[in-house]
Amino acid sequence: MENKISVVRKEHFNCAHRLHNNDWTDEQNKSFYGKCNNPNYHGHNYNLEVTITGELNKESGYLIDMKVLSKIMKEEVLTPFDHKNLNLDVPDFKELIPTAENISIVIYNKLANKLDSKFNIKIKLYETERNSVIYPA
Ligand code: NI
Repeated sequence: MENKISVVRKEHFNCAHRLHNNDWTDEQNKSFYGKCNNPNYHGHNYNLEVTITGELNKESGYLIDMKVLSKIMKEEVLTPFDHKNLNLDVPDFKELIPTAENISIVIYNKLANKLDSKFNIKIKLYETERNSVIYPA
């Protein structure tokens, strides 16, 4: 356990989204989500931090090859999300409201699918400078 260590990779992407619950009336949506319910969508500059934790490989001196992590984040998150409308362009949000919370969970599941299960993954997603989400908590 003394070789347990974490590495962090930061990435950035821009997306449009609209927060709207189809089970609620337009009035309920507008009053709950406010500006984030704007019918014509709005954008955010998301900052993503992915923390990988595990046992340091003594032979290589690496926890994980950052080139590998970078490639997976690019393929799983940046390419499908960057400069997209999350509601309209990204199938993961066809039925799921693209809140920062749900985006974090989707990103976690995508990365967990591609990374070795020996790694512990933590997502920190900044939707604004002041607001961020951590998953898993
Ligand atoms: Ni928003």
